Amino acid sequence: MTQVKTAVFPVAGLGTRFLPATKAMPKVLLPIVDRPLIQYAVDEAAAAGIENLVFVTGRGNSALEDYFDVSFELEATLRAKGQSDIAASLEGLRRGPGQIAYVRQIDPLGLGHAVWCARNTIGDAPFAVLLADELILSDVPDLTTMLEVHAEHGGNVVLVDEVARSRTGSYGIITPGETHNGVIEVTDIVEKPNPEHAPSNLAVIGRYILDPSIMAMLETTETGAGGEIELTDALLASIGTVPFHAVRTTGDRFDCGSKTGFVDATIHAALGRSDMRSHVQGTIDRLANHSTDS
Ligand code: UTP
Repeated sequence: MTQVKTAVFPVAGLGTRFLPATKAMPKVLLPIVDRPLIQYAVDEAAAAGIENLVFVTGRGNSALEDYFDVSFELEATLRAKGQSDIAASLEGLRRGPGQIAYVRQIDPLGLGHAVWCARNTIGDAPFAVLLADELILSDVPDLTTMLEVHAEHGGNVVLVDEVARSRTGSYGIITPGETHNGVIEVTDIVEKPNPEHAPSNLAVIGRYILDPSIMAMLETTETGAGGEIELTDALLASIGTVPFHAVRTTGDRFDCGSKTGFVDATIHAALGRSDMRSHVQGTIDRLANHSTDS
């Protein structure tokens, strides 16, 4: 079985739910306290052994390239001011030569189309896809478990989480088949079903290990449910041609593509930090008391 060494990060979406914040900066550079969403996803991939990163970028994404680049003036200024520790922490964000590639989506025609745009960089090897706006915090990255499942079964592997029935219309929803040791066979998948038509409440949550044959499926995938080329539809077309499994997340998941999820993640991260916990907890208590009083 070929080892998975490359991850694709589609970041070319319009980020309409965060306008005007995302008018001139990519959504994935929005920070959870002081770390951009993309940094969490890149760290998660690295912790799972991923070496090469492919960003699928679009309009207004040049700040992302700057983020992963050398910031010579800033680092020199910090050193001159005696803040070498901060400069060193910025150095630590960089990747080795040739380990980052950027491909352009040009038109945001959907997640499936964004993944397909990376086809020439991916070639004939299995690869991971991470949606950085799904923030997943866990001790052992779910991606590590997914890679183990992929090493055993091959094919396509997705990460799922239980969602409220009323929320199925926001996700790809799987039909679970037999489950062995936490590995769920996927027998069907549908994009954004109405709650009454959803085959389960197991939603795909932004982590994928994909067989390279998905690219050929995407090539012929037509515009789907939301007027976009959906990865879900290509996964559906792949059923029966390659194995398809799902594992449940074991982490704390925050849908940072939504404003409430983003705020939840920010509060969670702030409360998890010793330098901020008591201040933020105090503010929450004060505001809670205030709203009870009024
Ligand atoms: P979303 O569905 O969250 O869309 O995309 P979005 O554009 O980012 O945000 P809204 O809905 O307009 O507020 C899920 C992921 O797929 C990427 C996005 O960047 C995000 O990481 N994506 C989506 C692309 O790269 N290209 C696309 O054409 C669509």
